[in-house]
Amino acid sequence: MSNKNAIDFAVIGGTGLTEIDGLEVIQREVVHTPFGEPSGQFTHGLIGDKRIVFLARHGYTHTIPPHKVNYRANIWALHHLGVRNVLAVAAVGGITAGMKPQTLVIPDQIIDYTHDRPHTFFEEGLNVVTHIDFSRPYSASMREMVIRAATQAGLSLVENATYAATQGPRLETAAEILRLERDGAHIVGMTGMPETALARELGLDYACCAVVSNWAAGKNSHVITMDTIRSNLAVGLANVRTLLKSLSC
Ligand code: HPA
Repeated sequence: MSNKNAIDFAVIGGTGLTEIDGLEVIQREVVHTPFGEPSGQFTHGLIGDKRIVFLARHGYTHTIPPHKVNYRANIWALHHLGVRNVLAVAAVGGITAGMKPQTLVIPDQIIDYTHDRPHTFFEEGLNVVTHIDFSRPYSASMREMVIRAATQAGLSLVENATYAATQGPRLETAAEILRLERDGAHIVGMTGMPETALARELGLDYACCAVVSNWAAGKNSHVITMDTIRSNLAVGLANVRTLLKSLSC
């Protein structure tokens, strides 16, 4: 049984995950931050005996595009609420052969191709210039917890992958995807950065559960449509919900 006042973990929901089934809502909280407004209210609740807090990254009505998300406000607010562990759920495109649509992936590396996004807490009023270690961008303990929960729930997932974070909101060209593949990326998404780095700057244990919603550009002959993305996400996110329940046991 967890301490009933301490938050066990936070979930940042990506595209398609604006609420969590089975979450017994305790309260919704508005948090103002020195970096502006987060994506929405924070939903405090219980899954099983675990105290969690949930935030929809793109807003509860899915209106904030990836490059406009206030990542600093979201991460600052989670830290302010006393969160230590974060599971970020994100839709991605699959680049390499093992990353077919509907696959769940727990990346262990990330490459940042984003630009012009406020990306650090360490720029104003510093006593000393600060460089965080980011060699292993995701928390080992949080990744292990998620992988164990998936195994317990009988879910299959890919345990290692490199996530390429692109600017969006447009999808990539086929040539861009080939370049990302040459760079060593297995999946591509638009929200992994600066979120992952900001979490590290504030010392949060952060892991990502990526859901492959489509083959990345040029990886099959079809045009990537929102319908394709939505229908693959629906299947993948059903598994994420199972994973969240298992994480809460
Ligand atoms: N590219 C970038 N971001 C994405 C994709 C993609 O193909 N699918 C879902 N998010």
